[in-house]
Amino acid sequence: MFGLRSTPSPSYGADAVVTGAGSGIGRAFAIELARRGGRVVCADISLARAEETVRLLEGQGYAVQCDVSVQTQVQDLALFAELEFGGAPTVVINNAGVGIGGQPVGNIGFEDWNWALGINLWGVIHGCEAFVPLLRAAGRGGVINVASAAGFAAAPTMGPYNVGKAGVMSLSETLAAELSGTGVRVSVLCPTFVKTNVAVDGRITTQKSELAQKLMRWTGFSPERVAVGTLDAFDAGRLYVVPQLDAKAIWLAKRLVPTLYTRGAGLLNRLMATEPDQQSLPELRSTTGK
Ligand SMILES: NC(=O)c1ccc[n+]([C@@H]2O[C@H](COP(=O)([O-])OP(=O)(O)OC[C@H]3O[C@@H](n4cnc5c(N)ncnc54)[C@H](O)[C@@H]3O)[C@@H](O)[C@H]2O)c1
Repeated sequence: MFGLRSTPSPSYGADAVVTGAGSGIGRAFAIELARRGGRVVCADISLARAEETVRLLEGQGYAVQCDVSVQTQVQDLALFAELEFGGAPTVVINNAGVGIGGQPVGNIGFEDWNWALGINLWGVIHGCEAFVPLLRAAGRGGVINVASAAGFAAAPTMGPYNVGKAGVMSLSETLAAELSGTGVRVSVLCPTFVKTNVAVDGRITTQKSELAQKLMRWTGFSPERVAVGTLDAFDAGRLYVVPQLDAKAIWLAKRLVPTLYTRGAGLLNRLMATEPDQQSLPELRSTTGK
């Protein structure tokens, strides 16, 4: 029968790899996977952050420095995981990502496009290319890619973020179709706001970062709640994981009245912009070093 090759709840007792595991949603995934009895390779561009996560795990964890935008580093991460686990991992979570926003298309600059897409899109492509052959050969487990509600409904002044996350959605849908019947699952996580460091750590103009932080405080879910819900959805074999009500409403609006949705987003953007955002992303880079 179809689908019987996969274990019923692969997130329990998993040999897992999580990228961007040093903070926020990635850290919450690592903690929850360990709580479910798994061993977790915690990869992050910051080794110190990854090590801090490993110290928080109940079970076995390994900290690895890995910049997901560099293909060879992700390939090395896959080799490390295979060696430590003595075989293919069961669950791979391509979570690492950065925030970018505040400037309209035309003002962004290619350095910023490349930086954001290098991590948010190429990072996930590198992860899928490195790990999917291992999972396919094992015929079990699966991949969770972290996209965003921005992946299906674009907000103004977030061009590179929207494009990267839409790419992650498309890649996940492609993979899910390619892997159907192999015993390997695919889920794609599409949240709106989650209370993490993403709005302060990326390249977001001060005006937009403050707005994002307020929305996060008022409406955001905790990363722990998102991690638990996503792993349960993955175990249930769900492709799309849309955890929040506002994300579900946006999903519906985009599908039922797409033109109205986009006009509405544009109108909201004009009403909220009391004055044009004067800060350019290159200025932001030179003052924050990010
Ligand atoms: N927080 C939200 O509201 C929200 C909403 C939708 C989607 N997301 C997505 O969730 C994912 C996790 O973000 P978060 O909110 O937990 O943010 P976060 O900033 O708290 O954590 C991101 C982690 O990724 C790491 N990282 C950054 N660049 C990296 C790189 N090149 N290679 C490896 N690691 C790198 C950071 O060091 C950090 O530990 C991202 O893909 C983000 O786009 C977040």
